[in-house]
Amino acid sequence: MTLSPPPVSCGIDRPYAGLRRVGRTNWPAVGHAWRVTSRTRRALADLERKVLPPDIAALDQLRLVQVPFVPEVRLHLAEDAIVWWARMEAEAGAVLEPPFWASAWAGGQAVARYVLDHPQVAAGRRVLDLASGSGLVAIAASKAGAAAVTANDIDPYALAAIALNANANGVTVTSSYGDLLDGSGGDAELVLAGDVFYSRSMAERILAFLERVVARGARVLVGDPGRGHLPTDRLDVVASYQVPMADAFADPDINHIDVLQPRLTF
Ligand SMILES: C[S@@+](CC[C@H](N)C(=O)[O-])C[C@H]1O[C@@H](n2cnc3c(N)ncnc32)[C@H](O)[C@@H]1O
Repeated sequence: MTLSPPPVSCGIDRPYAGLRRVGRTNWPAVGHAWRVTSRTRRALADLERKVLPPDIAALDQLRLVQVPFVPEVRLHLAEDAIVWWARMEAEAGAVLEPPFWASAWAGGQAVARYVLDHPQVAAGRRVLDLASGSGLVAIAASKAGAAAVTANDIDPYALAAIALNANANGVTVTSSYGDLLDGSGGDAELVLAGDVFYSRSMAERILAFLERVVARGARVLVGDPGRGHLPTDRLDVVASYQVPMADAFADPDINHIDVLQPRLTF
């Protein structure tokens, strides 16, 4: 694999920069992408310019690659996420949020693997991929036969990447911009979330959200490689993956990923 979440300059324990932004709207339901259409369109045009052909080597570009643990899916990922981030900031002349969408996170790879190996979980269902990043999990759900898939994120560049990646995989995914965590997932019958328990504040909000989703009768699956903020007493393991390939994830500490669901306590 060519990259991983940047572990040093973008430590996952650090409060995620996007959450500190002022003026973000809490969207009440799934599917409100219209608000950022022009921002997303600009981001999409920008990303498309930066995709490298396979035979050219450069660290500060995107490349369409097979996902190691989910080879059915190809994503536009940064050759080196840190270098990519630096390039984006240099071009913008400003400090930017980490490009989390430019990596296929381990938790997302596990959820995508699970959904593709158990397509009945998603087939015919309305699916929400929360904090979608690259769109990996949303694309897997679509490939598994979901009736409709919405990919949600708070980063306009993630929405652009999701559009690019859905197109590269020949699937349809509706993107949804904004923070949905105060709601209960709209009418989604299945909510998927890869690698979202990476900070304490995020974990608290996500767990409350996911428990509301379960309380209204929808199913939830999350993927986590042991990031440290997983509320293990509130979740049950559905599947576990050992990751034997040394180069499957550039993060050398990851060798085990769980897929989990909230424990029913009512
Ligand atoms: C670690 S990445 C995981 C991406 C993807 N799920 C995967 O597994 O590859 C976390 C993602 O959460 C998004 N995010 C952070 N806070 C969010 C929020 N409140 N609502 C939606 N997405 C959020 C970030 O923009 C980022 O894309």
